[in-house]
Amino acid sequence: MLTDRLMAMANEIEQGETVADIGTDHGYLPVYLYKEGISPKVIMTDVSKGSLNKARNNCKEMCPGEKFDFRLGYGLKVIKRGEVDDIVIAGMGGVLITEILGKDMGKTKMFKKLILQPRTAQGRLRFWLVRKGFNIVNEQLVREGRFICEIITAVPGEAPEEMMMPEGPDAIQWELPPWVAKLQKPLAKEFVQLKLDRENRILTSMGNSKTIKPSDIKAVKNNIRYLERMLKL
Ligand SMILES: C[S@@+](CC[C@H](N)C(=O)[O-])C[C@H]1O[C@@H](n2cnc3c(N)ncnc32)[C@H](O)[C@@H]1O
Repeated sequence: MLTDRLMAMANEIEQGETVADIGTDHGYLPVYLYKEGISPKVIMTDVSKGSLNKARNNCKEMCPGEKFDFRLGYGLKVIKRGEVDDIVIAGMGGVLITEILGKDMGKTKMFKKLILQPRTAQGRLRFWLVRKGFNIVNEQLVREGRFICEIITAVPGEAPEEMMMPEGPDAIQWELPPWVAKLQKPLAKEFVQLKLDRENRILTSMGNSKTIKPSDIKAVKNNIRYLERMLKL
């Protein structure tokens, strides 16, 4: 019933854990968790009335007669501290996810688990999580159409030494950390190769321009060397 991407997130929820799906839209994930008896309580939230109505209609169709908890509002504002064990924020940009999580750090730190699926700025989100005192305990790559989606599971707590990388948020090391490059083959290999192809295209286009600074060329060459190393992990 669920797509591979939604199922990969559902698999992160343990039996008995309660969940709020922030930006639920269609509501498929929380309905699945409830129907399968995994989560005794699910909350569906969205900032858009139209999206929340979509979830309402889907719930009526999939679970007729069942009462669900729908909340209209921005991010975690509509969830009380400690109200649920886990939160899911999926299908949004990584920077928006950091903004949602960072609005009330006290509240965010009270959840047991964060299951995050950023569509963009994945590196910035990883950097933010580790710097703000979260440990990334699992990562998954899942193919969805022409995309390879990244699913990050984080828990409050100090990250291990190897995750405390010194590079800045936009560094390739955060976009593609070694622990992601080492994920299930051949998907991880394809994922690294796509990034390597992109950097090689950038380098080629730089060669055709006379206004590029040597330091920019050096940075791209460093990215290429790094990604070539990741390909061999
Ligand atoms: C692309 S959909 C993703 C739906 C679902 N989570 C998934 O992964 O399939 C993004 C949803 O997030 C909602 N959204 C965007 N910003 C939000 C915010 N700050 N707070 C709550 N919901 C938000 C949008 O209205 C939209 O319904």
